[in-house]
Amino acid sequence: SIIYVLNGPNLNLLGKRQPHIYGHETLADVEADCRKLASELGHEIRFHQSNREYEIIDWIHQAREDGAGIVINPAAFTHTSLAILDALNTFEGPVIEIHISNVHKRESFRHHSFVSHRADGVIAGLGTEGYQLGIRRVATMLKTAKK
Ligand code: DQA
Repeated sequence: SIIYVLNGPNLNLLGKRQPHIYGHETLADVEADCRKLASELGHEIRFHQSNREYEIIDWIHQAREDGAGIVINPAAFTHTSLAILDALNTFEGPVIEIHISNVHKRESFRHHSFVSHRADGVIAGLGTEGYQLGIRRVATMLKTAKK
């Protein structure tokens, strides 16, 4: 199957942006790791990043058409976007929400997530390894859905 890995605003600067919080790996490094793992698991990856909310919504709609799974780091849209939650609520496949940092250890405005109202699971604070774990979980869920 297809697994969408969706990234929200400012994650294009991963590796350069507050590395004490988000680490030194770039988004290109994360993408390479995701592609490697997905091919080992026999899945195809659609890896995207945008600073624009509507693009993320459009990719969720595409994932719906594709009968795919979604791993999403909505970044700051996590805490603001009812529109992304509504888009995810049109989607029936597995959704894993991930955050590189432990949002619960940070400012209180990062403690609420709109996306968590729909996500099947949430990974936070495990660094960029969270993407790998999210892909593994989506792969497991896609497999059990097929049975
Ligand atoms: C983030 C956490 C968010 O609060 C923040 O706005 C981000 C990144 C993370 O991966 O830790 O941009 O989603």
